[in-house]
Amino acid sequence: MRLLSARLIISLIVGITLVSLCSSYYQVLVLNRGLRKDLQHRAEVLGESLAKNVERDLARDALSALRRTVEQFANREHLAGLAVYNAQGHPIAVTTNLEPLIPTAPAVVLQTLKEGHSTSAFLRIGISSIHIYAVPLHRDDELIGTLAIVHDAGYIRGESLRIWRETFLSALAHVVLIVFITLLIVRWSIAGPIARTAHWMRALRTGRSSARIKVPDLELFRPLAREVATFAESLNTARSAAELEARLRETGQSVWTADRLAVHVQSRLADGRLFVVSNREPYLHTRRDKGVVVNVPASGLVTAIEPVLRACDGTWVAHGSGDADLDAVDGHDRLAVPPDDPRYTLRRVWLTKEEEAGYYYGFSNEGLWPLCHIAHTRPLFRADDWQNYQEVNRKFADALLEEMENISRPVVLVQDYHFALLPRMIKRRRPDARVAIFWHIPWPNPEAFRICPWQRELVDGLLGADLVGFHIQAHCTNFLQTVDRIVESRIDWERFSVQRLDHRTTVRPFPISVEFADAPVEPPRESAYEERAGLLKAMGVEAVLMGVGVDRLDYTKGILERFLAIERFLEKYPRYQGVFTFVQIGAPSRTHIKRYHDLQAEVEAEVDRINWRFGADQWKPIVLLNRQHSHKEIEPYYRAADLCLVTSLHDGMNLVAKEFVATRHDERGVLILSCFTGAARELLDALQVNPYDIDQTAEAIRAALEMSAEEKQIRMQRMRKVVREQNVFRWAGTLIGELCEVRLDGADGGREKFRTGATAG
Ligand code: G6P
Repeated sequence: MRLLSARLIISLIVGITLVSLCSSYYQVLVLNRGLRKDLQHRAEVLGESLAKNVERDLARDALSALRRTVEQFANREHLAGLAVYNAQGHPIAVTTNLEPLIPTAPAVVLQTLKEGHSTSAFLRIGISSIHIYAVPLHRDDELIGTLAIVHDAGYIRGESLRIWRETFLSALAHVVLIVFITLLIVRWSIAGPIARTAHWMRALRTGRSSARIKVPDLELFRPLAREVATFAESLNTARSAAELEARLRETGQSVWTADRLAVHVQSRLADGRLFVVSNREPYLHTRRDKGVVVNVPASGLVTAIEPVLRACDGTWVAHGSGDADLDAVDGHDRLAVPPDDPRYTLRRVWLTKEEEAGYYYGFSNEGLWPLCHIAHTRPLFRADDWQNYQEVNRKFADALLEEMENISRPVVLVQDYHFALLPRMIKRRRPDARVAIFWHIPWPNPEAFRICPWQRELVDGLLGADLVGFHIQAHCTNFLQTVDRIVESRIDWERFSVQRLDHRTTVRPFPISVEFADAPVEPPRESAYEERAGLLKAMGVEAVLMGVGVDRLDYTKGILERFLAIERFLEKYPRYQGVFTFVQIGAPSRTHIKRYHDLQAEVEAEVDRINWRFGADQWKPIVLLNRQHSHKEIEPYYRAADLCLVTSLHDGMNLVAKEFVATRHDERGVLILSCFTGAARELLDALQVNPYDIDQTAEAIRAALEMSAEEKQIRMQRMRKVVREQNVFRWAGTLIGELCEVRLDGADGGREKFRTGATAG
């Protein structure tokens, strides 16, 4: 730092001095020119005024008159004197002071005599500097002599010296002042922050920094500060990962992290590449008044897959459903995402309105969804919808095959019930691809599945995959029993696989999950109590206790049953009236489907009815927040709630239950969980209820609110341990790991049939 300051000071001194010197040189030049011009002008004026008289006296040989004249003009301001010369250049009359200075006619006088017009010159004689202006003298037209007007020009040099002196002093003052101010600025704005940053980085390096990364304020170096912040964040993440690994080694556990997943997948993929196919895309470009915004849809599937692709790159093929999606892609319908920190490729597939209506709303959500969820909504199967379902599966297969072109070891993860036909279509064209399909919803028993007119085609399409995944073992069993009933195949119940013709499909449970952080990314500024009071106040409600429910507005989620249980609870335990409020965050979903549209109205009506029945003053039993909420918006509700209600009538897994647990770093809050969710198999410390049993759920609400703090903590700690270990990275890691272990059909992995870019059959 000292060396830096010395260099800075020397550079400043040299710089300022050079600038001052140049500017003074120019000033002196201008001044010199001005003074000389002025002197010349004065000499000319004097010459003109005297010439007539001197001519007359010279013509008359009036020597005494001439001498008087030349003496009269001695010692005037800067005027050294006058001299009159005859036509031969001999002095006739010379001011006394001048005689020693110019004993003979100077060259300028002789030049005037020769050329017959006025001339002037600056001369240095000894140490004196003079200016001579010579005027020709005439009698009629005859040149009879010269009048020389001599000025002392020494004062011009004096003026120049004065300027140089002043410049030097002012430059000196500038140097001192600027160096002083610069040193102050450097100290306050640069050296100070840099020293603080260095100190902070040292603390970071030696692990003494707090978990929260707050970069010192480096106003002047904003881009640098940003980089340092990112660097610090990576360092902290790496350190946390290393610490976690060390802790895990110490305790003999093995928890999956994003880093571990990345390493695991990369080693399994080797030179292969990961492809994901889903209906829902992870990023939607939507037009708003002020331009285009990018949204992440509130979907459990997106929550689960996004961290996987972020961790290991790859391509995600999905339906481009945002109204500005088309503008965001390149010529191949691709874009790099996440938009602000690209990690992988999103390939968008475009669907017509008719295709979307038939494949998504119709066959997938009015057919397969109610078929697989036993929630007593009758599935609708229409031939047109089936037609569209097949065509859209083919369209996605084409897009995927195009993306896989020239990729030698593709690994494909197909997501969900929208693409039951896709595995077969892909394998037919690319037998060398490893294909898994993960079915995110329950698989019903064979009796229930039988009602689907295209059950055979669906099962056959799925059996094209090398691996079929479900959330829980029960769904795997249901699937194998369905296969057994519907198609010709050999089922190996030991290994849980199906041999059909020359292809083997393995069936396994992979319980999906969420990310789990040991500490909150940003420690909450308030306690759960304060946060709860703040949230309720913002909703205009006065209450002491709060419950929360977070769901897509879907008839499988048991939202109406939940409200009935809340009503029953308030009825049975009136002491909680005016005290307990339940906040239902309900994201509208699939609203073009009548059943969903009606459900929304039913939910609103039920909230109104219950609120009307019990509501008083500033208190309401239920607050319905009927819109899409981001994870960030939902988190405060999870953190602040005394209990979370998940009352699905049937659910593959239910990630809300796991998200609630993962968010409760304070180890408080009680989870009430439907026994018909996949999550109920893992979260044994939740208060499990049958959502159809309204009284039981009402009792669970009371039990949750009256549970001792210790009991809550023990239960939450145990559930957090489960979610921490069974996190989303484990889900992806084991799914991809298992898929990469699968032996492809034929010794060469079916490569003799390898073709690219062709239309899927
Ligand atoms: C839930 C299911 C997923 C399904 C998703 C579709 O999250 O668990 O299996 O993919 O809904 O929701 P969407 O809004 O895209 O129809």
